[in-house]
Amino acid sequence: MGFSTDAIHVGQEPDPLTGAVVAPIYQTSTYVCESLGKTKGYDYARTTHPNRMALERTVAKLEGGKSAYVFTSGMAAIDAVFRLLRPGNHTVLPRALYGGTFRLASQLLADFGLQFSYVDTSNLDEVEQAIKPSTRMIYVETPSNPTMIVTDLAAVAALARNRNLTLVVDNTFLSPYLQQPIALGAHIVIHSMTKYLNGHSDCIGGAVVLTRSEDAEKVYFLQRAAGAGLAPMDCFLISRGIKTLAVRMDRHDSNGMTVAKFLEAHRKVERVLYPGLSSHPQHELAKRQQRGFGAMITFDLGSLDAARTLLNHLHLCSLAESLGGVEMLISHPASMTHSSMPPEVRKENGITDGMVRLSAGIEDIEDLIADLDQALAKV
Ligand SMILES: Cc1ncc(COP(=O)(O)O)c(C=O)c1O
Repeated sequence: MGFSTDAIHVGQEPDPLTGAVVAPIYQTSTYVCESLGKTKGYDYARTTHPNRMALERTVAKLEGGKSAYVFTSGMAAIDAVFRLLRPGNHTVLPRALYGGTFRLASQLLADFGLQFSYVDTSNLDEVEQAIKPSTRMIYVETPSNPTMIVTDLAAVAALARNRNLTLVVDNTFLSPYLQQPIALGAHIVIHSMTKYLNGHSDCIGGAVVLTRSEDAEKVYFLQRAAGAGLAPMDCFLISRGIKTLAVRMDRHDSNGMTVAKFLEAHRKVERVLYPGLSSHPQHELAKRQQRGFGAMITFDLGSLDAARTLLNHLHLCSLAESLGGVEMLISHPASMTHSSMPPEVRKENGITDGMVRLSAGIEDIEDLIADLDQALAKV
């Protein structure tokens, strides 16, 4: 079936007990045993529950994976993937990386003996040179948060295959509708489902999508043993959100392109980073490996003062962490999403104080542009 049909039907079948078109929320912590050692397939909601199993089937299908496991946040999903490693194992990470992932690696996992190198993953030579005998994993975020660097997934996947390494891709910024890392050779895909998969800014969740049964067994064990599996209500909300993923992404994509072109033409804006613009250094690669360019746009106003003025004068667009919801959100990476990166690391990664990151919503495009236009006039 096509993507939209799968998004609406896989894992979203009518409830077999009652015929309800939308399966109920199984808001229970435990399940009664029919007799000692005999259950109906569920025993305790930390282990799993029907809403979680349903969402996991949907996400696995949409990403083209064998299986998926959903967690209480994108960070819990990323943490689960790193726990496939052992002390002493090394991972190649992008320098341009979501601040929370950088914090997890550098401030938490490093204390448990995991080793990381940070490189520009859009430069294959840099990735290759960072590989050591202890390397087990290459981790990529494309496009990267917030610098919108695009990594050639097929090329990195070929390198990972040759060197017997696991390729992990954070596909949060595009969703499976606009980018399919597994089809390009990735072994594992992770998502902050808080973003486009849910799409309505009303819950937090993460997913790990797997292609190998040995990884799946370990991640499922971890989900049960460490207890960060997603709760029934949150699974229900994300399953509902996913039904409209394709139509939302089409609108996000077209609004994103219009906003990016508007910003690029505006004299107060110094630079726009959006892979859909021909000025983006990896525009051709993005065209090749993505089905669209999405709605994440980063632009530079040249100074913290200018960024502050813009952010404080928007009316429709909300100044908030997060992205990927139906409403337009805007943030200041240096002081918000990437504040856990030391200033010198931010500088190295091209995250300036004048940078603003915008998540174009699916509102009427004229209203989004009008709001940005009036706020830019104050800069
Ligand atoms: C690219 C990316 N990956 C992972 C995460 C972490 O997800 P969560 O906030 O759901 O834990 C985020 C959050 O903003 C993100 O932008």
